[in-house]
Amino acid sequence: MKRLSILCLCALVTLYGHKYVLSQPYSYGERNSDLGIRVFQQVVQSKPLENVVFSPHGVASILGLLLPGAHGETLKQITSGLHYKKNGRYRMLKKLHRSVTAKSKQGVVLIANAIFSQKGFPMKVAFVTDNKVNFQCEVRSLDFNNPQRAANEINEWVNNKTKGHISSLIQADMLDSLTRLVAVNSIFFKGSWKSRFQPADTKMKPFKGGNGDVYTVPMMSQLSTFNISHATTPEGVKYRVIELPYQGNTTSMLIVLPYEEDTPLSSVIPHISIATVRSWMKQTYTRKVNLVIPKFTVDAEVDLEAPLSALGIKDMFDENKADFRGISDEPLYVSKALQKVKIVVNEDGTKAAAATTAILMARSSPPWIIVDRSFLFLVRHKPTGTILFMGQINRP
Ligand SMILES: *[C@@H]1O[C@H](CO)[C@@H](O)[C@H](O)[C@H]1NC(C)=O
Ligand SMILES: *[C@@H]1O[C@H](CO)[C@@H](O)[C@H](O)[C@H]1NC(C)=O
Ligand SMILES: *[C@@H]1O[C@H](CO)[C@@H](O)[C@H](O)[C@H]1NC(C)=O
Repeated sequence: MKRLSILCLCALVTLYGHKYVLSQPYSYGERNSDLGIRVFQQVVQSKPLENVVFSPHGVASILGLLLPGAHGETLKQITSGLHYKKNGRYRMLKKLHRSVTAKSKQGVVLIANAIFSQKGFPMKVAFVTDNKVNFQCEVRSLDFNNPQRAANEINEWVNNKTKGHISSLIQADMLDSLTRLVAVNSIFFKGSWKSRFQPADTKMKPFKGGNGDVYTVPMMSQLSTFNISHATTPEGVKYRVIELPYQGNTTSMLIVLPYEEDTPLSSVIPHISIATVRSWMKQTYTRKVNLVIPKFTVDAEVDLEAPLSALGIKDMFDENKADFRGISDEPLYVSKALQKVKIVVNEDGTKAAAATTAILMARSSPPWIIVDRSFLFLVRHKPTGTILFMGQINRP
């Protein structure tokens, strides 16, 4: 099932039930997810016909780990991308982390955070403490001078936290002697359908891919009562949303399907935001239907630099502009940010894992400032502030 286009705003969407009122302020879970949805929109623009799976919360979480170390314009770009408020954001994020990962007998959401730093690299205490306290972040030290061993150790941590679903996140060649820290967020989700599909009802059936080709794939089916809503994009494209709840009543999968067979997903995806999701939830009704959906397993990897930059979170990737003085006095920038996701959807339910990382490097060389055009100068006596000379140089 390589080329099916499936839009799957999976799992972590409906954590607080459905009692949304549009005027309610956004929760921090929604703020995080809204940025993540916009990143997803950027990603699918360049691959409209491929399978893409993505964790909106994973992206926000990795930015959350960097936040206590960010300053100036870098900080401003992250907080405005996430629509975070000036005050109280760590308290809200801590609450969100607790709430999403709250123990439940049925569904499982496991979220783990870690910062792997170069042995002997002095990180500021507040940065480490904020991450430990707010995100239960583990802090470990590694030697990036041995990139293979360091990558193995990080990958083993990810493999452990995603229960074997993501075994390789980092490649050794992403690390070198200038690597100072690697931040990692891992999300593991396991949910059993509240109403399971019977394996005997799964049959090979046609599925029309985004490119128009028809594939024969295993399709599960069941006759059940589902919450359904109908929506229309501003351009008048109609689609429906079907909610498949998991056991435990806190999570569900929302399947978005245009009415018309020939409507590409690209005419719906750009209109989706947290406000849209809220509006679906507001006008849902219950209906008994025969639902037929494919079983699928998808792996995907997304490089986050281009989509985040397109959304205005760009200075952190720039050697000369990144401002992480809250992490360390040594200038750092994000040399790589990526996410890997795996999702398995079958008759029993869903298993999904996402690992997101940001690799921070020290600047390879001090920034250049080249005075190669007209300039002004002043010669100033510092103790008195007296300007002794000044000039304008147009032809040295
Ligand atoms: C992964 O889990 C195994 C078994 O619990 C443990 O021995 C190992 O230290 C873990 N690895 C990392 C990198 O945390
Ligand atoms: C439909 O939504 C309501 C309101 O959130 C919920 O209580 C109910 O369990 C849902 N029913 C199904 C079949 O998903
Ligand atoms: C979930 O909701 C259903 C009714 O909608 C209820 O019967 C069931 O006990 C709930 N389960 C849990 C774990 O709260």
